[in-house]
Amino acid sequence: MNNPVNHFENDLLAALSSENKHISPKYFYDANGSALFDQICDLPEYYPTKTELSILSHHSGAMAQHMGPHAELIELGAGALTKVRLLLRQLDSPTSFLPMDISGDHLTAAARDLQREFPQLAVSPIVADYTHDWSLPLPHKATQRRIAFFPGSTIGNFLPTEVDSFFANCAKHLPAGGLLLGVDLLKPPQIIHQAYNDAQGITAAFNSNLLTRANRELNANFDVSQFAHWAFYNAPQHRVEMHLVSLKKQEVVLKNQSFVFEEGETLHTENSYKYSIDKIQDIAEKQGLKSGPVWTDPNRWFGLLWFDIPDFETA
Ligand SMILES: C[S@@+](CC[C@H](N)C(=O)[O-])C[C@H]1O[C@@H](n2cnc3c(N)ncnc32)[C@H](O)[C@@H]1O
Repeated sequence: MNNPVNHFENDLLAALSSENKHISPKYFYDANGSALFDQICDLPEYYPTKTELSILSHHSGAMAQHMGPHAELIELGAGALTKVRLLLRQLDSPTSFLPMDISGDHLTAAARDLQREFPQLAVSPIVADYTHDWSLPLPHKATQRRIAFFPGSTIGNFLPTEVDSFFANCAKHLPAGGLLLGVDLLKPPQIIHQAYNDAQGITAAFNSNLLTRANRELNANFDVSQFAHWAFYNAPQHRVEMHLVSLKKQEVVLKNQSFVFEEGETLHTENSYKYSIDKIQDIAEKQGLKSGPVWTDPNRWFGLLWFDIPDFETA
């Protein structure tokens, strides 16, 4: 993997130098950020995890049938590996499981627990940044089909051009394979707003962890108490925006360079786009993927969408 610390340093310097300060949400996820995200998943307001888990618990049998026997399952942005257990229990003789995540320590611990629960399964964690490279080993010799599982609506964190690249990567790396994609769907803004503004302030702690991490890893001097969590649903753009708002005019030093935040100026830390089923299928199909079944909940708040990936070599 490329050195993630150098990327963090360069990307943060670039963000602080620009007029609209914006950094990738991937930098939330050090060990502390991953632990905070796991707490977010348990919050009463955070409907995406509960809803996706309930869809999986009802339909994982049908999903596993689509994946077929002797599949190799690759989970992108794997996190705590809670959801994939529901699939693994239904899959017919999977050859291997490759969870990929940027948060190395958290991934290693989660993969170790999973291996204990599924001792027959070959579990090979991959610490990588899927926006840079997929670093997949050659498939296990018994593998009939490679399948990617991308839950949590993490695709919502991508900008539109990055969504195109993601589907293009699926087409490139998973010929004749499949993709099971978790997508947070359009819904009344109030429900979305609450999910990113929880009463216990865990999402706020997750957001400001980016500054704590920069102070620890990059020797920056952010005064974390002087930046406030701000998350809102930008309805025209169909996305939640998460920012850290400067509570006063202040100066931050990073790598001997000094940057001024005006009072009220923000560091934009995350977008979380919400989609209609038709829209995301349309984008995937433009990259050559073929839409299949969609599993959803009674409110249609969240969707798990199946895509077949053609074998472009032999097509
Ligand atoms: C929103 S969480 C979802 C976690 C889990 N899949 C779920 O559904 O609950 C996003 C996950 O993707 C990982 N992640 C974020 N950006 C990444 C990147 N560029 N490359 C690899 N993993 C990334 C994070 O570490 C985190 O585990």
